[in-house]
Amino acid sequence: MKLFDVYPLNNITIAKAKGSYVWDEKGTEYLDMYGGHAVISIGHTHPYWVSAIETQLHKIAFYSNSVIIPIQTQLAQKIGVVSGKNNFQLFLCNSGAEANENAIKLASFVTARKKIISFTGSFHGRTSLAVAATDNPSIVAPVNETENIIFLPFNDESALQACFDADGGSIAAVIIEGIQGVGGIRVATNTFLQLIRSLCTKHGALYVADSVQCGYGRTGQFFAHDAAGVDADIYSMAKGMGNGFPIGGILIAPHIAPKYGMLGTTFGGNHLACAAALAVVEVMEQDNLLEAAASNGTYLMDALAKIPHITNVRGRGLMIGFDVPDSIKDLKKVLLQEYKVFTGEAKPNVIRLLPSLAITRAEIDVFLDRLQKAIQSLL
Ligand SMILES: Cc1ncc(COP(=O)(O)O)c(C=O)c1O
Repeated sequence: MKLFDVYPLNNITIAKAKGSYVWDEKGTEYLDMYGGHAVISIGHTHPYWVSAIETQLHKIAFYSNSVIIPIQTQLAQKIGVVSGKNNFQLFLCNSGAEANENAIKLASFVTARKKIISFTGSFHGRTSLAVAATDNPSIVAPVNETENIIFLPFNDESALQACFDADGGSIAAVIIEGIQGVGGIRVATNTFLQLIRSLCTKHGALYVADSVQCGYGRTGQFFAHDAAGVDADIYSMAKGMGNGFPIGGILIAPHIAPKYGMLGTTFGGNHLACAAALAVVEVMEQDNLLEAAASNGTYLMDALAKIPHITNVRGRGLMIGFDVPDSIKDLKKVLLQEYKVFTGEAKPNVIRLLPSLAITRAEIDVFLDRLQKAIQSLL
């Protein structure tokens, strides 16, 4: 049987990984500035994480959500402490799209309304509502098309105000990434997020903070949205949560009351995924990875801003993007093939950096050196 061919692949087979490095099957070492798409939070195959999963695997890997699973509560408590949102409630699922799907659905249940505001450049996942709220018609199937999503220009306060003035009573939720990832590292302004908060409060809508890529410590705060100093009603999380073990979740504000059957999943919150996720937050806390992401991110961005030929360095913490002019348009390819560095991209000409939050200064210096050599080789 063939694989369903939906991914354009690099001709590389990764066989081993440790910290910020991965190796192919011939033993060639690559520096991972992409974190497998923002997923690697505490470093590849972190020994504490490996051991937590191994230990759990020998006890029990899975039982359904029909019984008490204490490690879910342990995880909720730990995320509450590390995120500072102790009074929120946790619902566990398996991926980012599923987290957003549940967030939007919950907002609709709670408000008994249908309209969702989303923004240009957004990416929220590929399930039905998540993809409908994603600004990319090429991945929206006819069955996902809905009149219920209103797209507004990103960071446009007057458009948002006008939409609420006209239609406030029918808005169930506003969904927004704190920093757009797939959209090219576009940072939501603090005043925009504050306006979302106040308009949602005024009109009885819910503020959904898609933190799947920009959350979980990546920007140096637990949620990128925290920079605005206001709370959302629901935070969706996934990528960094399991350091590669599939797990997602939503944090739900205390004013939202649960009802049996409202949300549900077979695999979400299974023992093994919770063991992986618990190890991740424990390492984040023990190793002060939020502070590390903030300071190493500033160091990296400052250094990038001084490198000629790349422009528009932006982002926060270890979620960084820059533009690549036409004269060096093959930079990403050359970095990978010649200089053995994985980076991410966003169309048409953006390089995205999403390394492990545990990346060291020495590893950042290795990257900066290879980046400058790669640029020189293209001139
Ligand atoms: C902001 C954002 N939301 C949601 C998703 C979807 O997550 P998943 O691929 O785990 O379904 C992604 C994935 O890239 C994302 O970047």
